[in-house]
Amino acid sequence: MNKNFYITTPIYYPSAKPHMGHAYSSIIADFFARFKRMDGYDVHFLTGTDEHGLKIQRSAEKQNIDPLEFCNQISKTFRDLSKTLNLTNTDFIRTTEERHKKSVQHLWSELENNDDIYLSKYSGWYSVSDEAFYSEDEIEDLDGVKRSISSKSPVEWIEEESYFFRLSKWEKPLLDYYESHPNFIAPESRKNEVISFVKSGLKDLSVSRKSFSWGIKVPNNNDHVIYVWLDALTNYISALNYPDSSDKLFKKFWPASIHLIGKDILRFHAVYWPAFLLAAKIKLPQRVYGHGWILSDNEKMSKSKGNILDPIEIINQYGLDPLRYYLIKEVSFGNDGNISQERLEDCINSDLANNYGNLCQRVITFAIKNCNGEVPKNIKFESEDLLILNRYKDNLSIIRDKIDNQDINFYIDFIVNSLFEANKYFNDQEPWKKKENPLRLNTIVYTTLEIVRKISFLLYPIIPQSSIKALKIFDLKENDINLTSLENNEFLLKESKLNKIDILFKKIDKNND
Ligand code: MSP
Repeated sequence: MNKNFYITTPIYYPSAKPHMGHAYSSIIADFFARFKRMDGYDVHFLTGTDEHGLKIQRSAEKQNIDPLEFCNQISKTFRDLSKTLNLTNTDFIRTTEERHKKSVQHLWSELENNDDIYLSKYSGWYSVSDEAFYSEDEIEDLDGVKRSISSKSPVEWIEEESYFFRLSKWEKPLLDYYESHPNFIAPESRKNEVISFVKSGLKDLSVSRKSFSWGIKVPNNNDHVIYVWLDALTNYISALNYPDSSDKLFKKFWPASIHLIGKDILRFHAVYWPAFLLAAKIKLPQRVYGHGWILSDNEKMSKSKGNILDPIEIINQYGLDPLRYYLIKEVSFGNDGNISQERLEDCINSDLANNYGNLCQRVITFAIKNCNGEVPKNIKFESEDLLILNRYKDNLSIIRDKIDNQDINFYIDFIVNSLFEANKYFNDQEPWKKKENPLRLNTIVYTTLEIVRKISFLLYPIIPQSSIKALKIFDLKENDINLTSLENNEFLLKESKLNKIDILFKKIDKNND
């Protein structure tokens, strides 16, 4: 079985500093990367910054800085954010890097050699903010300003010589591909949007610009720069050293297992990107998943609306793991989700401090007092113990399958229910009343410890720092975390000493606010 997994985030525009929407895409990708790694996969996890185009050029001009200098500064804030979010990305690509430019120019030449590119003239609407072309029926007049109906960003009229990609030629092959690969686009609702867009007819796509220079030059015609989306999408293969198809990375990790993106950029990933790849005879990624938006006050966060929640501020105030847990739990994956500090605090208090933190502290305190501070070895499982322990083993293949279908909601529900059951088990079994029956007392303590271990393993992709901290109870390290061991109810028998740990999550005193 192929145990390689390649996951990508969108590469972010360094036109402004990172916000919660960017943090969300990255945290979700990190969740999948960590899950797959703990399931024994060799994971390649790519993120980075998308640095060309008019949007960046104008942002740099506004500040009177050279565009590359501007990108150097802001790209660094995204790289720093990856560290702050504790991402396990294995590469960080910048589209201004030489390795990337070479790949993009090569891909361009392939498309040109295959007669998929021709020179003509573009006249039409363009949104610099979206870096997208819009047809007349995709724009509207709002307060005297022409805007894209879907994104609401202003559009401007452009007329210039441009190279075109024969997108229309790929309409039928794309529709055939969607049909023969029903899992290519997810979730299902978004797939239907894409299919109806393609069915409505594809026009050839303008893929170069002549009126500005901040981009990768078209090979053999330096008056043109390559359209920023053709440039940007290629990052997914330039980071694997395309066109060197003998390269280890490309061989091992292409086609990507999943491109994780926000729903607003689905058309680029599910229509243009596969069309470029088909034209260049390169395999298509296995899946493109368009997640929903993080909303604040029920609106998409944006600079102009002034409703941006800054991930760094939230992390400074509450810590990273609470933010990761909250975003993964509260935003039903695939849909838009409103976030608020109030709900984040509830989540910390109820799920993290009360359910998980307390469970760990209660069992360790009890075990240290009543079992000599060691993992009890003299045990005999009763049916009620096996019932709660086997739940993990029995659900393991379902969990794997759900994650392969990006059903994060199932995963988090499974954990929340597990925590609830574990606390209930410890309460109902009343080990403090079993002091006369050491075999039973030991077995209850052992069972609860096993469950703490299993839940901590499952929580690792969501709240890695806290899970590792909890596993110090057993002297277990990050490398010991593996999914298959959820089948094993006797995993802890090989461990001996139990350690006290510091409190995992501080409760937020909401009355003081
Ligand atoms: N540079 C392009 C992507 C190129 S990928 C080859 C781009 N960059 S972006 O910085 O504008 O957005 C990056 C990602 O952040 C997109 O997936 C977008 O959907 C996501 N988000 C931006 N705001 C968001 C929210 N408020 N909520 C969730 N994600 C959103 O597009």
